[in-house]
Amino acid sequence: EKIGHGQASGKIILMGEHSVVYGEPAIAIPFQETFISTKVEPDSTMILDCHYYSGALSEVPPQLKSVKEVINQALIELHQKNMTFKITITSTIPAERGMGSSAAVAVSIVRALFDYFEVPCSPETLLHLVNRAEKIAHGNPSGIDAAATSGNEPLFFIKNHPLESFPMNVSNAFLIVADTGIKGQTRAAVSDVAHLFEQNKKEISQHITELGRLTKLAKQAISKDDVHTLGNVMNQAHDQLKSLTVSNDQLDQLVITAREHGAIGAKLTGGGRGGCMIALAESKEQAVKIAAALKSAGAFATWIQSLGVKK
Ligand code: PMV
Repeated sequence: EKIGHGQASGKIILMGEHSVVYGEPAIAIPFQETFISTKVEPDSTMILDCHYYSGALSEVPPQLKSVKEVINQALIELHQKNMTFKITITSTIPAERGMGSSAAVAVSIVRALFDYFEVPCSPETLLHLVNRAEKIAHGNPSGIDAAATSGNEPLFFIKNHPLESFPMNVSNAFLIVADTGIKGQTRAAVSDVAHLFEQNKKEISQHITELGRLTKLAKQAISKDDVHTLGNVMNQAHDQLKSLTVSNDQLDQLVITAREHGAIGAKLTGGGRGGCMIALAESKEQAVKIAAALKSAGAFATWIQSLGVKK
C-alpha cells in the first residue's frame, strides 16, 4: 500500500526574534538535533495521530487548528479534497519552546501529502501553505519559522523579502540550547509587544531598531569569524528583549548561569516567556560544562550543536 513521508527540522533564532515582526532582519539556523516526521496513508476517514491527540481530524482541539488547516489547504492545492487519510506525526522537537515546532509540523505534513501524490512541491507552494497555517497558530507571524524550517541552511531573514541564505563562517563555536521546560507563549508575547508599541511608540521602536542593528552586527561578526563580537551582541540582544517584556525569570536565570560558566554570549531564543535560551561557547569542552551547569540550574533539557562549518 502506498504511503507518503515528509520531514522537517527544527530551527533556532540566533538573533532578531520579535524585531523581525517589525521589518528588522533576523538570523535563523537549522536545529539539526530535532526533527518532525509525518506519515500519510489512506484510511476510511480523516484521522490525525500525534503526541497531543489521536482521533478524527474534524474534532481536533483548538491548538491543532493550524494542523487541520494545512492538511485541508494542501489537499485543495493537490486537487484531492475527497481523499481521506490517517496522518501520523512524530516529533523530537519540544512543542511550544520557540523551536518552530508549529511551522515544522506544517512543513512535514505538506511534504508528506505531496510525496503521497508524487507531486513535486515547489519552495513557493510550501512556504505559502505553511505561512497560512502559521497565521492561524501565531496570529501575526513574520514568516521566519516557515522559512527556516522549510530549508536546511542558515538564513538572514527579512519579512516579505526573498530568502537569503548565508554561510555560517565560524570555525570554532558551539551553541548550547537549553529548554526552561515552560511553554513559550509566542502568540501572547507578540501581541503584548504590539500593545506596548501602540502605547509608547518612541521607546519601543528604539528597542526594535537596536535589535535590528545588533542582528546586522552579528551577521558581520559571523562573516569575520569573530565569535567574541557575536557573543557580545547576543548579550546585548537579551537586554533589549527584556525591555520588550518577552523574557522571564527562568530565562534570565539560565542566561546568567551560562555567562557565569564561561559562555561568551547568551540570550533567549524564539517567542520567549518560557521556551528556550541559547549560549555561545568557544570549545566543545566549554559547551559541555555550560550545558551541565544549565541542567543543574533547572534546565529541562539541553543540546549542543556546532555553529557553522569547521575550517
Ligand atoms: O517562538 P517561535 O520559535 O515560534 O519564534 C517566534 C519568533 C517571533 O519573532 C517572536 C515571532 C515571529 O513570527 O517572527
